Amino acid sequence: MNFTGSNILSVEQFDIDSIQTIFTIADRMQPYARRQKRTKVLDGAILGNLFFEPSTRTRVSFGTAFNLLGGEVRETTGMESSALAKGESLYDTARVLSSYSDVIAMRHPKSGSVAEFAEGSRVPVINGGDGANEHPTQALLDLYTIKKELAYHGHGVDGMHICMMGDLKFGRTVHSLSRLLAMYKDIRFTLISPRELAMPDSVLEVLDQAGHHVTVTDQVSGSSDADIVYQTRIQQERFTTPQEADMYRGKFRLNSEIYTKHYKPNTVIMHPLPRDSRAEANELDNDLNQNPNLAIFRQADNGVLIRMALFALTLGVADQIEKYECDV
Ligand code: CP
Repeated sequence: MNFTGSNILSVEQFDIDSIQTIFTIADRMQPYARRQKRTKVLDGAILGNLFFEPSTRTRVSFGTAFNLLGGEVRETTGMESSALAKGESLYDTARVLSSYSDVIAMRHPKSGSVAEFAEGSRVPVINGGDGANEHPTQALLDLYTIKKELAYHGHGVDGMHICMMGDLKFGRTVHSLSRLLAMYKDIRFTLISPRELAMPDSVLEVLDQAGHHVTVTDQVSGSSDADIVYQTRIQQERFTTPQEADMYRGKFRLNSEIYTKHYKPNTVIMHPLPRDSRAEANELDNDLNQNPNLAIFRQADNGVLIRMALFALTLGVADQIEKYECDV
């Protein structure tokens, strides 16, 4: 894949080689992210960081990643504070804002909206989450984390067993991660959710065609040899009414007792965050916070490295990072 000037809209764009390219550059970003080294490779460049839906990690880590490469960030947050609230089209917004930016990261509540925006943009657009559809940068950081966590236990991605649990219908992170993992070999997927919130058929078809072993269930069972348990939040913002979301909240929890009963001692615990910590939900309990297998904050940390790598690649400066090093 030629990254320079490309939009990053879906994980479908990638193959194993392009994923490895991103991960190799993400590894090289570590000393810059830790401020052991400093680079000005994107000095003078501007990121348009457009978040029309709530975000903490994705928005701030895109901005942090761009700043760490020497660039500046201009943000718009919330639909109500942009001219979209006055009826402006995504195309017009893209035409205008792409004149002010070198690259744009965007989140929007509607599936397909970031691709629609990209049609009007004259600079690369990176999808920070479009409705229940995709979250490609989250999937990349999740896979990067999985590789690192499994390598620590002496395993690779091929042949692993992953349990995904919770709202698999509306959870865009599990859609994108499943599509990425489908590119690897012989993975066991145990997909645990209420029947009404099961993984969409479109994703199941991709896993089936790639020859993976998939179990769809509404019971926490068959997970005792899982290498990864990937918990998700009930995506209340995608339901027609809050009452509908209430029906499913708290159904599939993970806490220390359940973890010890259903998983092997070194199963890696993941969650894209935010976790819903309200008592009626609490899908990932704080009593696991000291468990060394809890990888949720390592996932969030890795988001900066992955987003730095994507900026370096889409802006065509990946081979110049060291050349523009400056004093720390
Ligand atoms: N994982 C994730 O997308 O988090 P935010 O909603 O905080 O960006």
